Amino acid sequence: MEDLSHLRQSYEKSELSDAGLPEFPFELFAKWFNELRDFGKEPEINAMTLSTIGIDGYPKARVVLLKSFDDSGFVFFSNYESEKGQAMELEPKVCLSFFWPSMERQVIIKGSVSKIDDAESEAYFHSRPRGSQLGALASNQSLPVESRHKLDDRLKTLESEFEGRQIPKPEYWGGYKVQPESMEFWQGRANRMHDRILYVIEDGDWKQIRLQP
Ligand SMILES: Cc1cc2nc3c(=O)[nH]c(=O)nc-3n(C[C@H](O)[C@H](O)[C@H](O)COP(=O)(O)O)c2cc1C
Repeated sequence: MEDLSHLRQSYEKSELSDAGLPEFPFELFAKWFNELRDFGKEPEINAMTLSTIGIDGYPKARVVLLKSFDDSGFVFFSNYESEKGQAMELEPKVCLSFFWPSMERQVIIKGSVSKIDDAESEAYFHSRPRGSQLGALASNQSLPVESRHKLDDRLKTLESEFEGRQIPKPEYWGGYKVQPESMEFWQGRANRMHDRILYVIEDGDWKQIRLQP
């Protein structure tokens, strides 16, 4: 067995003090996000792990890209018929988590998920590079395919079919918005005495709770 017990880091880059905590978690998320962006050491700040409860009863986590956020929620795009799409249809409760090692931070968001308006999905779809638009058309995400070759062929056929024309957004493709019910902010500290601030909604208001590391 490979011994990994020597792999350890002391987290000492920052802290999350009680003084000055914003009233709303979205403000803290935006602050952290902007700090990460300014710091410039995180290759994909908007990559987040989306966990769903699968139709087989197992949780499943995979990475998707956060495309927008405000105080109403967090938006990402995917295939509505994919494995995750089916899971969210059956159980619209999800967890989003971000790990930002460059600043030793983690954010964990639990909430309910719903599809965004088709018009918004349409607008975003057409803002993507043509190759990505065609890719969405070419892929029945999460289903098996005979070979890589088959997929590449499908893309080529679509490229010539839509040459010089607008690519229609497939009905099965669009955005989801996660409306948070809780948001936990984790800042690594020395001696494993990390800071954890949990925001939860209680009686319609956001409340802050400090958790033990
Ligand atoms: C960095 C990164 C970004 C990704 N972004 C997305 C995304 O925004 N939407 C998406 O559907 N899949 C995205 N994927 C692929 C998913 O992780 C996953 O493979 C795919 O959505 C199929 O998941 P499913 O079969 O569980 O539905 C991304 C993967 C990585 C590694």
